[in-house]
Amino acid sequence: MEELAAPTGTQMDLTGKVALVTGAAQGIGRSFSEALLRCGAKVALVDLNRSTGEACKKELDGEFDATHSVFIVCDVGSEDQLKCAFKKTLDLFGSLDIVCNNAGINNENNWEQTINVNLTSVIRGTYMALEYMSKENGGKGGVIVNMASLAGIFPAAHGPVYTATKHGVVGFTRAIAATSKLLGYGVRINTICPAFVNTPLLTSVNYEEKMGKYHVFKDSVKALVHHYGMLEPSLIVQGLMKILQEEELNGAVMKITKSKGIHFEIYEPTLIQPKVK
Ligand SMILES: NC(=O)c1ccc[n+]([C@@H]2O[C@H](COP(=O)([O-])OP(=O)(O)OC[C@H]3O[C@@H](n4cnc5c(N)ncnc54)[C@H](O)[C@@H]3O)[C@@H](O)[C@H]2O)c1
Repeated sequence: MEELAAPTGTQMDLTGKVALVTGAAQGIGRSFSEALLRCGAKVALVDLNRSTGEACKKELDGEFDATHSVFIVCDVGSEDQLKCAFKKTLDLFGSLDIVCNNAGINNENNWEQTINVNLTSVIRGTYMALEYMSKENGGKGGVIVNMASLAGIFPAAHGPVYTATKHGVVGFTRAIAATSKLLGYGVRINTICPAFVNTPLLTSVNYEEKMGKYHVFKDSVKALVHHYGMLEPSLIVQGLMKILQEEELNGAVMKITKSKGIHFEIYEPTLIQPKVK
C-alpha cells in the first residue's frame, strides 16, 4: 500500500469528524478511509467483502487508534443493510459529518446489479445521509461525496450500463445539491469523476463473465489505459480533500485525469430552478 501524505492546508478540521465510506475495503474507498483517519476523523468502513474488509481494518489498526474505525459488512444494494450500516455508525460514533458513496462495480453481464450498486445505492445513501445530516431534520449539516467516473460525462462503448449509472450519479448529485442549497439543508453534495485508477476494478475488463459481449473491447480498453495513463488512488484522495476543504463547492463535478489533474466540468448556468416560498 502506497504511503499517503497528510494533505496540507486543511481548512475543515477533520479531527473527531465522523465519516461513512462505502466500498472501503480496497481501492479508492480504502485510500479515502486511510486519509480520513490520518486527519483525525473516525471512519465506518462499509463493504460487502468480509475478508478484505477485516484485513483492511486490521492493517489500519496497526497505524491508527482501533477505536477510530469500524468495519461493517454491508451490501449497499440492500436497503435494510445500508440502513443498518448508517445506524451502527451513529450508535458507535454519535454523529455523522461525511458520507462517501463510493462502492461500485463494473458488470455489464449483470447490468441490473450494476444499476443497483452504482446508482440506486448512491441515491439511497444520499437520502439516508440527508436524513441524519440535513438541518431540515435538526441535523448539523455535512458533506456527501458521490463517486462517479469520467464515464459519467463521456460515453464508454465497453460499458454502456456503467456509463448510464455514472451519468445518473452526476445528474442526481447536481440536482440534489441544488435542492440542498434551495432548502437550506446545510449539506454540500459533490461528485468525483476520475479517469482510469489503479485498483482491482480495472481488471474487470479481463473477465467475460463480467463484460458479456463487450469483452471484445478488452484489448482496446488496455490500449486506452496505456494511452491516457493510470491514476493512483492518492490523487483521488487529494480531490476528496479539496471537496472537504472548499466550503463553496456544492454540486461540483470534479474530473481527475492524468493530463489535467484535478479540475472541474463546466456546465451552462442552470436556467430552470424552482423558487422557494
Ligand atoms: N478504478 C477505476 O478506474 C475507477 C475510475 C472511475 C471511477 N471509479 C469508481 O470508484 C469507485 C471505487 O472503485 P475502485 O476502483 O476502488 O474499485 P474496487 O473494486 O477496487 O473497490 C470497490 C469496493 O467496493 C466494494 N463493493 C462492491 N460492491 C459492493 C456492494 N454491493 N456493497 C458494498 N460494497 C461493495 C468491493 O468489495 C470493493 O471493496 C467505484 O464507484 C468505481 O466505479 C473507479
